[in-house]
Amino acid sequence: MKYTSMYFSPTGTSEKIIKTIVNEIFEEGINFDLTLPKSREKQILIDPESVVIIGVPVYSGRIPVIIETYLKSLNVNNQDVILIALYGNRAYEDALLEMKDIFKEKNCNVIGAGAFIGQHSITGNVASNRPDENDIALAKAFGIKVKDNIGKNISVEVGGKRPYRERKSPNSIGPSTNDNCNQCKLCAENCPVGAISIDDCKIVDATMCINCFRCVKECTREAKYFDERLDNIIKFLETNCTAQRLEPEIFV
Ligand SMILES: Cc1cc2nc3c(=O)[nH]c(=O)nc-3n(C[C@H](O)[C@H](O)[C@H](O)COP(=O)(O)O)c2cc1C
Repeated sequence: MKYTSMYFSPTGTSEKIIKTIVNEIFEEGINFDLTLPKSREKQILIDPESVVIIGVPVYSGRIPVIIETYLKSLNVNNQDVILIALYGNRAYEDALLEMKDIFKEKNCNVIGAGAFIGQHSITGNVASNRPDENDIALAKAFGIKVKDNIGKNISVEVGGKRPYRERKSPNSIGPSTNDNCNQCKLCAENCPVGAISIDDCKIVDATMCINCFRCVKECTREAKYFDERLDNIIKFLETNCTAQRLEPEIFV
C-alpha cells in the first residue's frame, strides 16, 4: 500500500510525527511539505490508490486558515485518510473534527486520527522539547493500529464539536528585527505566508503574519522577535498550560 503524506509545519513538530507514523506503516509513497507558499501554489497530484496522511498544527483550537482553504481544494475522492493535529499542550478543540468534515465531503474514510503534543511555538516553556521519546513511541503504536483499518471502509469518530470554535480575527502583529540582522534572507525565504520582504528582511507585512514563530526559530543570529504585545498570551500559556502534561489522544 502506497501513501501520500502532507504537512504544514512551521516549527517542525507536525512533520516529525507524520514522518514517524508514515515510517511505521508504509514503504512506498510521496511527501508534500506544504509549509512554504510556493508549495501551495498549484494542485498536487494525489495517487488515487494511496492512503492520504495529513499533519497540521492547531491554531486557536482550529486548523490554520490557509490549510483549511488548501485542504478544501484538494483533488481527492473516496480514499482512506489519516488525520493528525499537533497542539501545544493547551487544547486541540475542533481541529480534527473540521479536517474530518472536509474529507467526509470528499467521500473519504477517515481510518484514523490523532491529536499529538508538540512544543508550543509561541513559548518554548510550554510542552518543551515535545514530541519526546514517549510521544514518538505512541505515534509508532498509532501507526501499527491504524494500518489494520486500511481498505476496510471504516470511518472513525474524532474529538471536537460543531459549530467549531469561532476564529479569532488576525491580530496584525508581526515580528520585529534587531540589529543582529545581516539580511541573510533565511527568514524571508522560510516564511510560510511570504510576509517578510526578500529585499529587506526588516520589512514585514504584519497583516499577513500568522505568528507561527518560524522566523524567530530559524534565525541563526536571534534577530527576529515578537515584542511585548504577545506577553499576555505567553503569560497565559505559561501559567495555565505547564502544570499538566497532556498525552496524545488517538482515534482508531
Ligand atoms: C498562532 C498559534 C496558535 C496556537 N494555538 C494553539 C491552541 O489553540 N492550542 C494549543 O494547544 N496549541 C496552540 N498552538 C501551539 C501549536 O499548535 C504547536 O506549537 C504545534 O506543535 C506547532 O506545530 P508545528 O511545529 O508543526 O508548526 C498555537 C501556536 C500558534 C503559533
